Amino acid sequence: MAEKIGLFYGSSTGAGENVAHIIKEEIERSGVATVEMRIVSSDTLKVMEEYQYLIFGCSTWNIGELQDDWDVKFNELDIVNFNGRKVALYGNGDQYGYSNTFVDAIGMIGNKIAANGAEIVGFWPADGYEFEFSKGAFEGVFMGLPLDDDNQPERTRQRVVNWIYWVMEQFGMPMPVPEAA
Ligand SMILES: Cc1cc2nc3c(=O)[nH]c(=O)nc-3n(C[C@H](O)[C@H](O)[C@H](O)COP(=O)(O)O)c2cc1C
Repeated sequence: MAEKIGLFYGSSTGAGENVAHIIKEEIERSGVATVEMRIVSSDTLKVMEEYQYLIFGCSTWNIGELQDDWDVKFNELDIVNFNGRKVALYGNGDQYGYSNTFVDAIGMIGNKIAANGAEIVGFWPADGYEFEFSKGAFEGVFMGLPLDDDNQPERTRQRVVNWIYWVMEQFGMPMPVPEAA
């Protein structure tokens, strides 16, 4: 039976929600796993424990704050047992408009769950992004995948697809690469 992946997201204008759909579509097309999409604020976070493999999507708002659905749930992350669970993170942001807090949510959530035992996978090089500072980046590497639909919407799909192959490899569920047409 295919593994299931829990994709928990919060999205205020739909950018991160669109990414969640792309992720679900790509993974399920490969037949390797099924993806259950959940809005993070809609249930107790204890439901995260139903999954060995998790993907979290959170945009950054109000100059370095978590998106609302995550904001109300942030402290509840402490009741989730993340030991032995692998988690990949993506975050939507605006590298030019908010260059000093670009995708901070990736780092805020990533650091918290890492401290609570999660194994973070899906680190991504900061090449190709222009920003001053991000809580999600360390020495040229992001703790997850940054996306910028405000400035580079045309790059989002390919970034997500490339990243998801890498994430699934680290989940131990490599997706077969489609044959060239
Ligand atoms: C008032 C305001 C504040 C924002 N603050 C940040 C920020 O601090 N860092 C960042 O990377 N993006 C910031 N953004 C950009 C949003 O994260 C971006 O538009 C994103 O695509 C929203 O994703 P969502 O629709 O999934 O919530 C901000 C946008 C607005 C309108």
